[in-house]
Amino acid sequence: MRITFSVIKADVGSLVGHHTVHPQQLEVARSSLSKAKNEGLLTDFHVTAVGDDIQLIMTHQKGINSTQIHQLAWDTFMEITEKVSRKLKLYAAGQDLVATAFSGNMKGLGPGIAEAEFEERTSEPIVVFMADKTEPGAWNLPLYKIFADPFSTPGLVIDETLHSGCTFRVMDVMEDKFVDIDTPDEVYDLLALIGTPGRYIVHSVYRRTDGLFAAAASTARLALIAGKYVGKDDPVMFVRCQHGLPAVGEALEPFAFPHLVAGWMRGSHHGPLMPVSIKDARCTRFDGPPRVAALGFQLCEGKLIGPSDMFDDPAFDKARATANEITDYMRRHGPFMPHRLGPEEMEYTTLVSVLKKLEGKLKPASELQ
Ligand code: 13P
Ligand code: 13P
Ligand code: MG
Ligand code: MG
Repeated sequence: MRITFSVIKADVGSLVGHHTVHPQQLEVARSSLSKAKNEGLLTDFHVTAVGDDIQLIMTHQKGINSTQIHQLAWDTFMEITEKVSRKLKLYAAGQDLVATAFSGNMKGLGPGIAEAEFEERTSEPIVVFMADKTEPGAWNLPLYKIFADPFSTPGLVIDETLHSGCTFRVMDVMEDKFVDIDTPDEVYDLLALIGTPGRYIVHSVYRRTDGLFAAAASTARLALIAGKYVGKDDPVMFVRCQHGLPAVGEALEPFAFPHLVAGWMRGSHHGPLMPVSIKDARCTRFDGPPRVAALGFQLCEGKLIGPSDMFDDPAFDKARATANEITDYMRRHGPFMPHRLGPEEMEYTTLVSVLKKLEGKLKPASELQ
């Protein structure tokens, strides 16, 4: 059975600053998708939230970039904004809906999308990863480890079907171009690009033996859509697992290392990505630290069986403790880089006005005594 798996997310306003969502927002989302399921548009859905971002996890048979599905997600986010966010004066109502109206599909409108169409296998485990207070490039490092690092995924060495490696499709979000890179042969080329996560972002991954689709990530950058810096796009991705693909534990393993990502306070700081359960996916300290949650599903004729809350596990306590250590360490830098992002990556800055104020006082270096 061919199935399309679509994860579409947006921040449409939140409870207590950028902290979490309001339960009524999720109710509106569930009732909207439930109606679409009853009408036969969706096969199944699951609505969840990580921090102030709402994720619509949907299965259907309309293919990728379907106007009907994207319109459903857009209308759902608009309805939440009107019926709940504005009514309750939640913070930054409609935040990610940067376009004024829907136009054919979601690309360029603000919400993040990860989607793919594939043949459902005999058994189809999928893990959906969702982050708050960071950007799409945050998945680069974990995706590299899952699909190209044998020290993290031994399946690359010992599983016959994975042994030929994977193809990474990488977006250059500045130039709006993409390139396919084969690993392990071109692994250094891949790293040369994706080590710059603000520009080169992994879009999807395929198994090389047969081109089987393995993972998809959201790559939208609001800044580039709006033409000026308007903040970070809290990203989503999903990974198909087992039977010739990374095992579920191999997909989770990279998150035992809370790597540094861009985002956090005012979208303008580096901080550790902390793996948490859905119940702990609410940002607090310094509006963070940035968080990632993961829900695991089994597909059954397109139905979403589950979910299981994958980081709701003491096995990730050490990663959380390390993330808290890193949080203390980074915070001690105050307004200094590299805790604070470079000027070109900051959500907003006073640099221009400070320089203007100092204009009259600026003297040529040759006048230095
Ligand atoms: P499969 O090859 O059947 O996915 O099993 C591998 C496994 O899960 C071991 O961790
Ligand atoms: P969000 O991108 O999650 O809305 O957070 C914005 C922010 O400014 C946090 O300090
Ligand atoms: Mg927000
Ligand atoms: Mg957010």
